[in-house]
Amino acid sequence: MPLSKFKDRARAFADQVHLAKAQKKYPYFRPISRSWGTEVEVAGRRLIMVGSNDYLGLTHDPQVIEAASRAMVRWGTGAGGSRFLCGNLTLHEELEERLAAFVGKKKAVVHVTGFSTNLGAIASLLTPHDIIMCDRENHASIFEGCKAARAHIIPFAHNDVSSAARKLAAARQKNPQGLPLLITEGVFSMSGDVSPLADLVRLKEHHPDLLIYVDDAHGLGVMGPKGRGTAAYFGLTHGVDFIMGTFSKALASIGGFIAGDDEDVLEYVRHHSKTLIFSAAQPAGNAATVLACLEIIEREPERIERLWENTRRAWDGYQEIGLISGNSLTPIIPVFIGPEEKAFIVAQDLFEHGIFALPAIFPAVPRQQAVIRTAFMSTHTGSQVDYVLECLHKLARKHQLRAAEQPAPPPSFSGVDAVPSSPTLAAFNK
Ligand SMILES: Cc1ncc(COP(=O)(O)O)c(C=O)c1O
Repeated sequence: MPLSKFKDRARAFADQVHLAKAQKKYPYFRPISRSWGTEVEVAGRRLIMVGSNDYLGLTHDPQVIEAASRAMVRWGTGAGGSRFLCGNLTLHEELEERLAAFVGKKKAVVHVTGFSTNLGAIASLLTPHDIIMCDRENHASIFEGCKAARAHIIPFAHNDVSSAARKLAAARQKNPQGLPLLITEGVFSMSGDVSPLADLVRLKEHHPDLLIYVDDAHGLGVMGPKGRGTAAYFGLTHGVDFIMGTFSKALASIGGFIAGDDEDVLEYVRHHSKTLIFSAAQPAGNAATVLACLEIIEREPERIERLWENTRRAWDGYQEIGLISGNSLTPIIPVFIGPEEKAFIVAQDLFEHGIFALPAIFPAVPRQQAVIRTAFMSTHTGSQVDYVLECLHKLARKHQLRAAEQPAPPPSFSGVDAVPSSPTLAAFNK
């Protein structure tokens, strides 16, 4: 029986999950029964959320909710089809224009999620003859896009420009005809590291045909003047060729886009991205949400200022406690733990203290370099941040998380040692 064969394969994994749950070590898929933005209700308890990507706290903003509701009344709850066929709304077109202007590019193409933007856009841009330079810590959706393109993927060490330069030169020697595309995140989703974009763009001096694609999922609304992103932060809006972003972080919605200056290339992506053509369009309420967020970001710069105030408060606190937080200078601040099982225990302890923060394990980070990924929001109050610091202080002592108490972590505890594959839960059962 074919299903029983599959069941054999699934059972070992399912057993690990059951056991981890029984031992109260399983932190994922926690059902949230209510959210207030910076706080959520789980199993009847109210917890402070410090893992969300809702950096500007706009998911609960009354003006945003009002805009989404009005759009739902006008267009309905679903788009009814792919944008290619019957689901293309005037809202999507308006959004594309606004996004292109926001990031400083000529044209943008909206997809239904950020994941599907990377998957569809990268696969449509490249052929198996091309060369993809990929930071090892890039998001799984980028690697999936590269795999779908069947192009030659060359991973380089995380944020290591000389590694990228060396590998690019070698690849071009072997394949001088291949079109080279370098992909990096603007702000890395797990470590909070910022890409060395200026140095990466400088690679174009030796490789004038090199194209640069920046996934700025975590930089939009956070980095640069008026939250216009990491390329704008470096003054490199025109130095990079593609800016990709998601709506699921600071833009309080769901969806994604790719923007660039060449209208023909973007038109090609619009017609060849399989995830755009063969997937239903983003619903109107979600598109209207993003438009409302872009207006608020423009009008109320104090929201971004507050985000950075909270980030600094948390960062200083982490330093005082002596936690190891890598090179992050962004609202994503990882707490280095190391062994995966220990990360589950610390996460459970945080939960018991009323804090919702989750461990990131392989393949999101390198093996046995687990972190608790904390992320701060503009709408956190000072006392919420202080409470998180107080608990981390206690847990740092209990679990010996301070730098002085740990064997030296790897230099930046970054640099995923393999192209992300499927997750492993082996650590649960140690
Ligand atoms: C860097 C990066 N790119 C792409 C995505 C996918 O975006 P979405 O969740 O909007 O599909 C994520 C989501 O976590 C991300 O962190």
